[in-house]
Amino acid sequence: MSDKKATLTLEGKDAIELPIYSGSIGPDVIDVGALTSQGMFTYDPGFVSTAACESQITYIDGGKGILLHRGYPIEQLANESDFLETCWLLWNGELPTKEEKEAFVDNVTMHTMVHDQMNNFFRGFRRDAHPMAILCGVVGALSAFYHDSLDITNEKHRNISAIRLIAKMPTLAAMAYKYSVGQPFIYPRNDLNYAENFLHMMFSTPCEEHKISPTLADAMDKIFVLHADHEQNASTSTVRLTGSTGANPFACISAGIAALWGPSHGGANEAVLTMLDEIGDVSRIDEFVARAKDKNDPFRLMGFGHRVYKNFDPRAKVMKETADKVLAELGLEDDPSLAIAKRLEQIALEDPYFIEKKLYPNVDFYSGIILKAMGIPTSMFTVIFALGRTPGWIAHWNEMIGNPYKIGRPRQLYTGSAQRDFVPLDKR
Ligand code: SDX
Repeated sequence: MSDKKATLTLEGKDAIELPIYSGSIGPDVIDVGALTSQGMFTYDPGFVSTAACESQITYIDGGKGILLHRGYPIEQLANESDFLETCWLLWNGELPTKEEKEAFVDNVTMHTMVHDQMNNFFRGFRRDAHPMAILCGVVGALSAFYHDSLDITNEKHRNISAIRLIAKMPTLAAMAYKYSVGQPFIYPRNDLNYAENFLHMMFSTPCEEHKISPTLADAMDKIFVLHADHEQNASTSTVRLTGSTGANPFACISAGIAALWGPSHGGANEAVLTMLDEIGDVSRIDEFVARAKDKNDPFRLMGFGHRVYKNFDPRAKVMKETADKVLAELGLEDDPSLAIAKRLEQIALEDPYFIEKKLYPNVDFYSGIILKAMGIPTSMFTVIFALGRTPGWIAHWNEMIGNPYKIGRPRQLYTGSAQRDFVPLDKR
Protein backbone atom coordinates (compact mmCIF):
# COMPACT_ATOMS: atom_id res chain seq x y z
CA MET A 1 0.00 0.00 0.00
CA SER A 2 1.16 3.65 -0.18
CA ASP A 3 0.43 6.93 1.61
CA LYS A 4 -0.77 8.60 -1.61
CA LYS A 5 -4.21 10.24 -1.47
CA ALA A 6 -6.93 11.44 -3.87
CA THR A 7 -8.99 14.47 -2.87
CA LEU A 8 -12.66 14.46 -3.85
CA THR A 9 -14.47 17.76 -3.62
CA LEU A 10 -18.29 17.43 -3.38
CA GLU A 11 -20.51 20.46 -4.01
CA GLY A 12 -21.53 22.02 -0.66
CA LYS A 13 -19.54 19.45 1.30
CA ASP A 14 -16.05 19.29 2.75
CA ALA A 15 -13.49 17.70 0.44
CA ILE A 16 -12.72 14.11 1.36
CA GLU A 17 -9.42 12.33 1.07
CA LEU A 18 -9.42 8.85 -0.44
CA PRO A 19 -6.40 6.56 0.02
CA ILE A 20 -4.53 5.46 -3.12
CA TYR A 21 -2.92 2.02 -3.07
CA SER A 22 -0.14 0.87 -5.39
CA GLY A 23 0.36 -2.76 -6.48
CA SER A 24 3.71 -4.40 -7.30
CA ILE A 25 3.04 -3.59 -11.00
CA GLY A 26 0.07 -2.07 -12.81
CA PRO A 27 -2.36 0.78 -12.12
CA ASP A 28 -2.87 2.33 -8.69
CA VAL A 29 -6.33 2.05 -7.12
CA ILE A 30 -8.42 4.55 -5.17
CA ASP A 31 -10.14 3.20 -2.05
CA VAL A 32 -13.64 4.71 -2.24
CA GLY A 33 -14.97 3.06 0.93
CA ALA A 34 -15.36 6.45 2.61
CA LEU A 35 -18.00 7.49 0.08
CA THR A 36 -20.74 5.47 1.85
CA SER A 37 -20.43 7.68 4.94
CA GLN A 38 -20.99 10.64 2.60
CA GLY A 39 -24.22 8.98 1.39
CA MET A 40 -22.78 8.28 -2.07
CA PHE A 41 -21.68 5.29 -4.15
CA THR A 42 -19.32 4.98 -7.13
CA TYR A 43 -21.04 4.18 -10.43
CA ASP A 44 -19.27 1.80 -12.83
CA PRO A 45 -21.62 -0.50 -14.85
CA GLY A 46 -19.68 -3.49 -16.20
CA PHE A 47 -16.90 -2.76 -13.68
CA VAL A 48 -14.81 -1.17 -16.44
CA SER A 49 -12.83 0.91 -13.91
CA THR A 50 -13.30 -1.15 -10.76
CA ALA A 51 -10.71 -3.25 -8.94
CA ALA A 52 -12.92 -5.68 -7.02
CA CYS A 53 -10.13 -7.23 -4.96
CA GLU A 54 -6.41 -7.52 -4.31
CA SER A 55 -4.79 -10.53 -5.97
CA GLN A 56 -1.34 -12.01 -6.58
CA ILE A 57 -2.29 -14.67 -9.13
CA THR A 58 -2.42 -13.12 -12.62
CA TYR A 59 -1.38 -9.80 -14.10
CA ILE A 60 -2.55 -8.46 -17.47
CA ASP A 61 -1.18 -5.40 -19.27
CA GLY A 62 -3.85 -4.93 -21.95
CA GLY A 63 -1.96 -2.14 -23.70
CA LYS A 64 1.19 -4.22 -24.13
CA GLY A 65 -0.49 -7.61 -24.59
CA ILE A 66 1.19 -9.05 -21.51
CA LEU A 67 -0.24 -11.94 -19.42
CA LEU A 68 1.68 -13.21 -16.36
CA HIS A 69 0.75 -16.08 -14.05
CA ARG A 70 2.58 -15.53 -10.73
CA GLY A 71 5.02 -13.42 -12.79
CA TYR A 72 5.69 -16.01 -15.52
CA PRO A 73 4.74 -14.94 -19.12
CA ILE A 74 1.99 -17.07 -20.66
CA GLU A 75 4.13 -17.69 -23.76
CA GLN A 76 6.82 -19.37 -21.61
CA LEU A 77 4.32 -21.43 -19.63
CA ALA A 78 2.49 -22.54 -22.80
CA ASN A 79 5.71 -23.51 -24.59
CA GLU A 80 7.85 -24.81 -21.70
CA SER A 81 5.52 -25.91 -18.89
CA ASP A 82 2.39 -28.08 -18.83
CA PHE A 83 -1.14 -27.80 -17.50
CA LEU A 84 -0.77 -29.53 -14.12
CA GLU A 85 2.46 -27.64 -13.41
CA THR A 86 0.68 -24.38 -14.29
CA CYS A 87 -2.17 -25.45 -12.01
CA TRP A 88 0.30 -25.94 -9.12
CA LEU A 89 1.86 -22.54 -9.90
CA LEU A 90 -1.52 -20.77 -9.84
CA TRP A 91 -2.48 -22.42 -6.54
CA ASN A 92 0.84 -22.24 -4.69
CA GLY A 93 2.57 -19.18 -6.18
CA GLU A 94 5.77 -21.00 -7.20
CA LEU A 95 6.74 -23.62 -9.81
CA PRO A 96 6.81 -27.08 -8.17
CA THR A 97 10.03 -28.96 -7.45
CA LYS A 98 10.41 -32.31 -9.23
CA GLU A 99 9.20 -34.14 -6.12
CA GLU A 100 6.26 -31.76 -5.60
CA LYS A 101 5.22 -32.14 -9.23
CA GLU A 102 5.38 -35.96 -9.16
CA ALA A 103 3.33 -36.12 -5.96
CA PHE A 104 0.78 -33.63 -7.30
CA VAL A 105 0.35 -35.47 -10.62
CA ASP A 106 -0.07 -38.77 -8.76
CA ASN A 107 -2.63 -37.22 -6.42
CA VAL A 108 -4.66 -35.80 -9.31
CA THR A 109 -4.45 -39.12 -11.17
CA MET A 110 -5.88 -40.96 -8.15
CA HIS A 111 -8.99 -38.76 -8.23
CA THR A 112 -9.91 -38.88 -11.96
CA MET A 113 -12.75 -41.40 -11.50
CA VAL A 114 -16.21 -40.15 -10.48
CA HIS A 115 -18.66 -41.82 -8.08
CA ASP A 116 -20.55 -44.47 -10.05
CA GLN A 117 -23.85 -42.86 -9.02
CA MET A 118 -22.87 -39.83 -11.12
CA ASN A 119 -23.74 -41.87 -14.21
CA ASN A 120 -27.41 -41.62 -13.25
CA PHE A 121 -27.33 -37.82 -13.54
CA PHE A 122 -26.36 -38.09 -17.21
CA ARG A 123 -29.24 -40.48 -17.97
CA GLY A 124 -31.67 -37.72 -16.96
CA PHE A 125 -30.59 -35.42 -19.80
CA ARG A 126 -31.83 -35.57 -23.40
CA ARG A 127 -29.11 -36.89 -25.71
CA ASP A 128 -29.06 -33.53 -27.49
CA ALA A 129 -28.61 -31.53 -24.27
CA HIS A 130 -25.86 -28.90 -24.61
CA PRO A 131 -22.77 -30.27 -22.80
CA MET A 132 -22.42 -26.97 -20.92
CA ALA A 133 -25.89 -27.53 -19.44
CA ILE A 134 -24.77 -31.00 -18.38
CA LEU A 135 -21.46 -29.73 -16.94
CA CYS A 136 -23.20 -27.00 -14.90
CA GLY A 137 -25.44 -29.68 -13.41
CA VAL A 138 -23.00 -32.46 -12.67
CA VAL A 139 -20.24 -30.20 -11.26
CA GLY A 140 -22.69 -28.64 -8.82
CA ALA A 141 -23.92 -32.15 -7.98
CA LEU A 142 -20.40 -33.23 -6.96
CA SER A 143 -21.05 -31.47 -3.62
CA ALA A 144 -23.69 -34.13 -2.94
CA PHE A 145 -20.94 -36.76 -2.75
CA TYR A 146 -18.40 -35.09 -0.47
CA HIS A 147 -20.28 -34.08 2.68
CA ASP A 148 -17.13 -35.01 4.66
CA SER A 149 -15.06 -32.20 3.13
CA LEU A 150 -17.17 -29.10 2.50
CA ASP A 151 -15.98 -26.98 5.43
CA ILE A 152 -14.46 -24.04 3.53
CA THR A 153 -12.70 -22.82 6.69
CA ASN A 154 -10.73 -26.09 6.76
CA GLU A 155 -7.66 -25.83 4.48
CA LYS A 156 -7.51 -29.62 4.10
CA HIS A 157 -11.12 -29.64 2.84
CA ARG A 158 -10.32 -26.82 0.42
CA ASN A 159 -7.28 -28.73 -0.89
CA ILE A 160 -9.05 -32.07 -1.45
CA SER A 161 -11.98 -30.26 -3.14
CA ALA A 162 -9.49 -28.53 -5.47
CA ILE A 163 -7.83 -31.85 -6.34
CA ARG A 164 -11.21 -33.50 -6.95
CA LEU A 165 -12.34 -30.67 -9.23
CA ILE A 166 -9.20 -30.53 -11.38
CA ALA A 167 -9.08 -34.35 -11.57
CA LYS A 168 -12.73 -34.98 -12.40
CA MET A 169 -13.42 -32.16 -14.86
CA PRO A 170 -11.93 -34.05 -17.86
CA THR A 171 -13.82 -37.20 -16.88
CA LEU A 172 -17.14 -35.34 -16.60
CA ALA A 173 -16.47 -33.38 -19.80
CA ALA A 174 -15.73 -36.56 -21.75
CA MET A 175 -18.83 -38.22 -20.24
CA ALA A 176 -20.95 -35.30 -21.49
CA TYR A 177 -19.56 -35.84 -24.99
CA LYS A 178 -19.96 -39.65 -24.91
CA TYR A 179 -23.55 -39.28 -23.73
CA SER A 180 -24.32 -36.93 -26.65
CA VAL A 181 -23.05 -39.47 -29.20
CA GLY A 182 -24.67 -42.48 -27.53
CA GLN A 183 -21.37 -44.19 -26.70
CA PRO A 184 -20.52 -45.78 -23.32
CA PHE A 185 -18.46 -43.77 -20.87
CA ILE A 186 -14.73 -44.54 -20.97
CA TYR A 187 -12.85 -44.84 -17.68
CA PRO A 188 -9.72 -42.72 -17.15
CA ARG A 189 -6.37 -44.52 -17.34
CA ASN A 190 -3.66 -43.96 -14.71
CA ASP A 191 -0.82 -44.50 -17.16
CA LEU A 192 -1.73 -41.46 -19.32
CA ASN A 193 -0.96 -37.80 -18.65
CA TYR A 194 -3.75 -35.26 -18.17
CA ALA A 195 -4.27 -34.26 -21.82
CA GLU A 196 -3.75 -37.82 -23.15
CA ASN A 197 -6.31 -39.11 -20.64
CA PHE A 198 -8.88 -36.55 -21.78
CA LEU A 199 -8.43 -37.50 -25.46
CA HIS A 200 -8.59 -41.18 -24.46
CA MET A 201 -11.90 -40.70 -22.59
CA MET A 202 -13.24 -38.66 -25.50
CA PHE A 203 -12.32 -40.92 -28.41
CA SER A 204 -11.63 -44.49 -27.18
CA THR A 205 -14.46 -47.00 -27.25
CA PRO A 206 -14.76 -50.39 -25.50
CA CYS A 207 -13.96 -51.89 -28.90
CA GLU A 208 -10.81 -49.90 -29.65
CA GLU A 209 -8.28 -47.76 -27.82
CA HIS A 210 -7.87 -44.31 -29.37
CA LYS A 211 -4.39 -43.87 -30.83
CA ILE A 212 -3.22 -40.65 -29.18
CA SER A 213 -1.05 -38.39 -31.34
CA PRO A 214 1.69 -36.72 -29.23
CA THR A 215 1.22 -33.53 -31.32
CA LEU A 216 -2.51 -33.42 -30.57
CA ALA A 217 -2.01 -34.27 -26.89
CA ASP A 218 0.57 -31.49 -26.68
CA ALA A 219 -1.84 -29.10 -28.43
CA MET A 220 -4.63 -30.10 -26.01
CA ASP A 221 -2.40 -29.48 -22.99
CA LYS A 222 -1.35 -26.13 -24.47
CA ILE A 223 -5.00 -25.13 -24.94
CA PHE A 224 -5.65 -25.97 -21.27
CA VAL A 225 -2.63 -23.85 -20.21
CA LEU A 226 -3.74 -20.90 -22.37
CA HIS A 227 -7.16 -20.92 -20.67
CA ALA A 228 -5.93 -21.57 -17.11
CA ASP A 229 -6.56 -18.12 -15.66
CA HIS A 230 -7.22 -14.56 -16.68
CA GLU A 231 -7.47 -12.21 -13.69
CA GLN A 232 -10.96 -10.96 -12.71
CA ASN A 233 -12.90 -11.93 -15.86
CA ALA A 234 -16.67 -12.41 -15.71
CA SER A 235 -16.65 -16.11 -14.74
CA THR A 236 -13.83 -15.72 -12.20
CA SER A 237 -15.63 -12.75 -10.65
CA THR A 238 -18.74 -14.97 -10.51
CA VAL A 239 -16.78 -17.65 -8.65
CA ARG A 240 -15.46 -15.05 -6.19
CA LEU A 241 -18.90 -13.51 -5.61
CA THR A 242 -20.48 -16.94 -5.12
CA GLY A 243 -17.63 -17.99 -2.82
CA SER A 244 -18.02 -14.81 -0.74
CA THR A 245 -21.39 -16.14 0.50
CA GLY A 246 -19.66 -19.24 1.92
CA ALA A 247 -21.03 -21.56 -0.78
CA ASN A 248 -19.14 -24.83 -1.25
CA PRO A 249 -16.41 -24.95 -3.95
CA PHE A 250 -18.43 -27.23 -6.28
CA ALA A 251 -21.32 -24.75 -6.28
CA CYS A 252 -18.87 -21.89 -6.93
CA ILE A 253 -17.26 -23.64 -9.91
CA SER A 254 -20.69 -24.55 -11.27
CA ALA A 255 -21.60 -20.84 -11.12
CA GLY A 256 -18.37 -20.01 -12.97
CA ILE A 257 -19.24 -22.56 -15.67
CA ALA A 258 -22.66 -20.95 -16.11
CA ALA A 259 -21.12 -17.47 -16.48
CA LEU A 260 -18.50 -18.74 -18.94
CA TRP A 261 -21.22 -20.12 -21.23
CA GLY A 262 -22.22 -16.73 -22.62
CA PRO A 263 -21.09 -15.94 -26.22
CA SER A 264 -19.45 -12.70 -25.04
CA HIS A 265 -17.19 -14.75 -22.78
CA GLY A 266 -16.22 -18.41 -23.02
CA GLY A 267 -19.01 -19.20 -25.46
CA ALA A 268 -17.16 -17.13 -28.06
CA ASN A 269 -15.03 -20.07 -29.27
CA GLU A 270 -18.19 -21.93 -30.27
CA ALA A 271 -19.57 -18.68 -31.76
CA VAL A 272 -16.37 -18.18 -33.83
CA LEU A 273 -16.83 -21.52 -35.60
CA THR A 274 -20.53 -20.82 -36.15
CA MET A 275 -19.55 -17.43 -37.61
CA LEU A 276 -16.84 -18.94 -39.88
CA ASP A 277 -19.33 -21.55 -41.09
CA GLU A 278 -21.89 -18.77 -41.74
CA ILE A 279 -19.34 -16.73 -43.72
CA GLY A 280 -18.66 -19.92 -45.65
CA ASP A 281 -16.29 -18.39 -48.17
CA VAL A 282 -13.53 -15.75 -48.23
CA SER A 283 -15.57 -13.82 -50.81
CA ARG A 284 -18.26 -13.08 -48.18
CA ILE A 285 -15.92 -11.66 -45.52
CA ASP A 286 -16.43 -8.01 -46.54
CA GLU A 287 -20.21 -8.39 -46.02
CA PHE A 288 -19.70 -9.63 -42.45
CA VAL A 289 -17.05 -7.02 -41.64
CA ALA A 290 -19.52 -4.35 -42.79
CA ARG A 291 -22.20 -5.83 -40.52
CA ALA A 292 -19.75 -5.87 -37.58
CA LYS A 293 -19.16 -2.14 -38.09
CA ASP A 294 -22.86 -1.31 -38.49
CA LYS A 295 -24.18 0.20 -35.23
CA ASN A 296 -27.68 -0.95 -36.15
CA ASP A 297 -26.60 -4.54 -36.63
CA PRO A 298 -26.09 -6.56 -33.42
CA PHE A 299 -23.60 -8.79 -35.26
CA ARG A 300 -20.08 -8.72 -33.85
CA LEU A 301 -16.97 -10.47 -35.14
CA MET A 302 -16.71 -13.34 -32.67
CA GLY A 303 -13.16 -13.87 -31.44
CA PHE A 304 -12.30 -10.18 -31.78
CA GLY A 305 -12.06 -7.53 -29.09
CA HIS A 306 -11.45 -7.70 -25.40
CA ARG A 307 -12.29 -5.65 -22.31
CA VAL A 308 -8.63 -5.50 -21.28
CA TYR A 309 -6.45 -6.30 -24.32
CA LYS A 310 -6.15 -3.25 -26.57
CA ASN A 311 -3.29 -5.05 -28.29
CA PHE A 312 -2.87 -8.63 -29.49
CA ASP A 313 -4.04 -11.21 -26.92
CA PRO A 314 -0.75 -13.07 -26.23
CA ARG A 315 -2.73 -16.29 -25.98
CA ALA A 316 -4.06 -15.84 -29.52
CA LYS A 317 -0.50 -15.73 -30.86
CA VAL A 318 0.39 -19.09 -29.26
CA MET A 319 -2.98 -20.50 -30.31
CA LYS A 320 -2.33 -19.46 -33.93
CA GLU A 321 1.09 -21.23 -33.91
CA THR A 322 -0.56 -24.32 -32.42
CA ALA A 323 -3.29 -24.23 -35.06
CA ASP A 324 -0.68 -24.28 -37.81
CA LYS A 325 1.07 -27.29 -36.20
CA VAL A 326 -2.13 -29.29 -35.62
CA LEU A 327 -3.52 -28.65 -39.12
CA ALA A 328 -0.15 -29.58 -40.67
CA GLU A 329 -0.09 -32.83 -38.66
CA LEU A 330 -3.60 -33.64 -39.83
CA GLY A 331 -2.97 -32.55 -43.42
CA LEU A 332 -5.65 -29.86 -43.10
CA GLU A 333 -3.56 -26.82 -43.99
CA ASP A 334 -6.18 -26.01 -46.59
CA ASP A 335 -9.03 -26.12 -44.08
CA PRO A 336 -11.53 -23.52 -45.39
CA SER A 337 -12.28 -22.26 -41.85
CA LEU A 338 -8.57 -21.53 -41.34
CA ALA A 339 -8.36 -19.72 -44.68
CA ILE A 340 -11.37 -17.57 -43.77
CA ALA A 341 -10.00 -16.95 -40.25
CA LYS A 342 -6.58 -15.85 -41.51
CA ARG A 343 -8.12 -13.56 -44.16
CA LEU A 344 -10.57 -12.14 -41.60
CA GLU A 345 -7.73 -11.44 -39.17
CA GLN A 346 -5.71 -9.70 -41.90
CA ILE A 347 -8.66 -7.52 -42.99
CA ALA A 348 -9.62 -6.66 -39.40
CA LEU A 349 -6.04 -5.66 -38.55
CA GLU A 350 -5.98 -3.30 -41.54
CA ASP A 351 -9.51 -1.89 -41.19
CA PRO A 352 -9.66 1.61 -39.58
CA TYR A 353 -12.75 0.65 -37.51
CA PHE A 354 -10.95 -2.25 -35.81
CA ILE A 355 -7.70 -0.30 -35.49
CA GLU A 356 -9.47 2.69 -33.91
CA LYS A 357 -11.42 0.48 -31.48
CA LYS A 358 -8.30 -1.65 -30.85
CA LEU A 359 -10.09 -4.88 -31.72
CA TYR A 360 -7.58 -7.72 -32.04
CA PRO A 361 -8.10 -11.49 -32.23
CA ASN A 362 -8.56 -12.91 -28.72
CA VAL A 363 -7.96 -16.34 -27.22
CA ASP A 364 -11.18 -17.69 -28.74
CA PHE A 365 -10.39 -16.82 -32.34
CA TYR A 366 -8.12 -19.75 -33.18
CA SER A 367 -8.94 -22.26 -30.44
CA GLY A 368 -12.10 -23.45 -32.18
CA ILE A 369 -10.23 -24.16 -35.41
CA ILE A 370 -7.79 -26.43 -33.53
CA LEU A 371 -10.55 -28.20 -31.62
CA LYS A 372 -12.62 -28.76 -34.76
CA ALA A 373 -9.54 -30.18 -36.54
CA MET A 374 -9.07 -32.55 -33.58
CA GLY A 375 -12.57 -33.92 -34.15
CA ILE A 376 -14.11 -32.20 -31.14
CA PRO A 377 -17.68 -30.98 -31.83
CA THR A 378 -18.35 -27.25 -31.62
CA SER A 379 -20.74 -27.73 -28.70
CA MET A 380 -17.80 -29.05 -26.63
CA PHE A 381 -15.57 -26.00 -27.18
CA THR A 382 -16.75 -24.02 -24.16
CA VAL A 383 -16.63 -27.18 -22.05
CA ILE A 384 -12.92 -27.36 -22.88
CA PHE A 385 -12.54 -23.69 -21.97
CA ALA A 386 -14.19 -24.49 -18.60
CA LEU A 387 -11.84 -27.45 -18.13
CA GLY A 388 -8.84 -25.20 -18.74
CA ARG A 389 -10.14 -22.38 -16.53
CA THR A 390 -10.86 -24.60 -13.50
CA PRO A 391 -7.42 -24.10 -11.84
CA GLY A 392 -7.78 -20.33 -12.20
CA TRP A 393 -11.26 -20.32 -10.68
CA ILE A 394 -10.01 -22.45 -7.78
CA ALA A 395 -6.91 -20.26 -7.26
CA HIS A 396 -9.03 -17.12 -6.96
CA TRP A 397 -11.61 -18.83 -4.74
CA ASN A 398 -8.85 -20.12 -2.43
CA GLU A 399 -7.05 -16.75 -2.40
CA MET A 400 -10.26 -15.08 -1.27
CA ILE A 401 -11.35 -17.72 1.28
CA GLY A 402 -7.80 -18.07 2.64
CA ASN A 403 -7.69 -14.34 3.55
CA PRO A 404 -10.11 -12.00 5.36
CA TYR A 405 -13.04 -11.29 3.02
CA LYS A 406 -16.54 -9.80 3.03
CA ILE A 407 -19.66 -11.00 1.21
CA GLY A 408 -19.85 -9.28 -2.18
CA ARG A 409 -22.85 -6.94 -2.20
CA PRO A 410 -22.75 -4.07 -4.79
CA ARG A 411 -25.17 -1.13 -4.52
CA GLN A 412 -26.99 0.78 -7.34
CA LEU A 413 -28.16 4.07 -8.80
CA TYR A 414 -31.92 3.85 -8.22
CA THR A 415 -34.09 5.55 -10.86
CA GLY A 416 -37.40 3.80 -10.09
CA SER A 417 -40.56 5.15 -8.36
CA ALA A 418 -40.30 7.03 -5.09
CA GLN A 419 -42.40 5.60 -2.23
CA ARG A 420 -46.14 5.51 -2.99
CA ASP A 421 -49.24 3.85 -1.41
CA PHE A 422 -50.88 0.65 -2.61
CA VAL A 423 -54.05 1.12 -4.72
CA PRO A 424 -56.74 -1.54 -4.19
CA LEU A 425 -57.85 -3.40 -7.32
CA ASP A 426 -61.30 -1.77 -7.44
CA LYS A 427 -59.69 1.68 -7.47
CA ARG A 428 -57.20 1.13 -10.38
C1 SDX B 1 -13.06 -13.98 -23.32
O1 SDX B 1 -12.43 -10.87 -19.52
C2 SDX B 1 -11.66 -11.81 -19.95
O2 SDX B 1 -10.48 -11.88 -19.64
C3 SDX B 1 -12.32 -12.82 -20.87
C4 SDX B 1 -11.40 -13.88 -21.46
C5 SDX B 1 -10.87 -14.81 -20.41
O3 SDX B 1 -9.85 -15.46 -20.65
O4 SDX B 1 -11.57 -15.00 -19.38
O5 SDX B 1 -10.32 -13.26 -22.12
C6 SDX B 1 -12.14 -14.77 -22.46
O6 SDX B 1 -14.21 -13.83 -22.95
C7 SDX B 1 -12.53 -13.35 -24.57
C8 SDX B 1 -13.61 -12.48 -25.30
C9 SDX B 1 -14.48 -13.44 -26.14
N1 SDX B 1 -15.64 -12.73 -26.67
C10 SDX B 1 -15.76 -12.47 -28.00
O7 SDX B 1 -14.88 -12.75 -28.83
C11 SDX B 1 -17.10 -11.89 -28.41
C12 SDX B 1 -16.85 -10.68 -29.36
N2 SDX B 1 -16.24 -9.63 -28.57
C13 SDX B 1 -17.13 -8.59 -28.03
O8 SDX B 1 -18.36 -9.09 -27.58
C14 SDX B 1 -16.40 -7.63 -27.08
O9 SDX B 1 -15.23 -7.29 -27.68
C15 SDX B 1 -16.11 -8.06 -25.65
C16 SDX B 1 -17.34 -8.51 -24.93
C17 SDX B 1 -15.12 -9.16 -25.63
C18 SDX B 1 -15.54 -6.86 -24.90
O10 SDX B 1 -16.55 -5.92 -24.83
P1 SDX B 1 -16.34 -4.53 -24.02
O11 SDX B 1 -15.04 -4.47 -23.36
O12 SDX B 1 -17.54 -4.29 -23.19
O13 SDX B 1 -16.21 -3.52 -25.19
P2 SDX B 1 -17.44 -2.87 -25.90
O14 SDX B 1 -18.50 -3.90 -26.11
O15 SDX B 1 -17.78 -1.62 -25.18
O16 SDX B 1 -16.82 -2.54 -27.33
C19 SDX B 1 -16.09 -1.35 -27.50
C20 SDX B 1 -16.47 -0.91 -28.93
C21 SDX B 1 -17.97 -0.87 -29.16
O17 SDX B 1 -18.22 0.12 -30.16
P3 SDX B 1 -18.75 1.59 -29.62
O18 SDX B 1 -20.00 1.32 -28.82
O19 SDX B 1 -17.62 2.16 -28.80
O20 SDX B 1 -19.01 2.35 -30.90
O21 SDX B 1 -15.96 -1.88 -29.86
C22 SDX B 1 -17.05 -2.49 -30.56
C23 SDX B 1 -18.32 -2.21 -29.77
O22 SDX B 1 -19.43 -2.14 -30.65
N3 SDX B 1 -16.76 -3.93 -30.58
C24 SDX B 1 -16.91 -4.72 -31.64
C25 SDX B 1 -16.47 -5.99 -31.22
N4 SDX B 1 -16.10 -5.92 -29.92
C26 SDX B 1 -16.29 -4.66 -29.53
N5 SDX B 1 -17.36 -4.48 -32.91
C27 SDX B 1 -17.38 -5.54 -33.75
N6 SDX B 1 -16.96 -6.79 -33.42
C28 SDX B 1 -16.51 -7.05 -32.16
N7 SDX B 1 -16.11 -8.28 -31.84
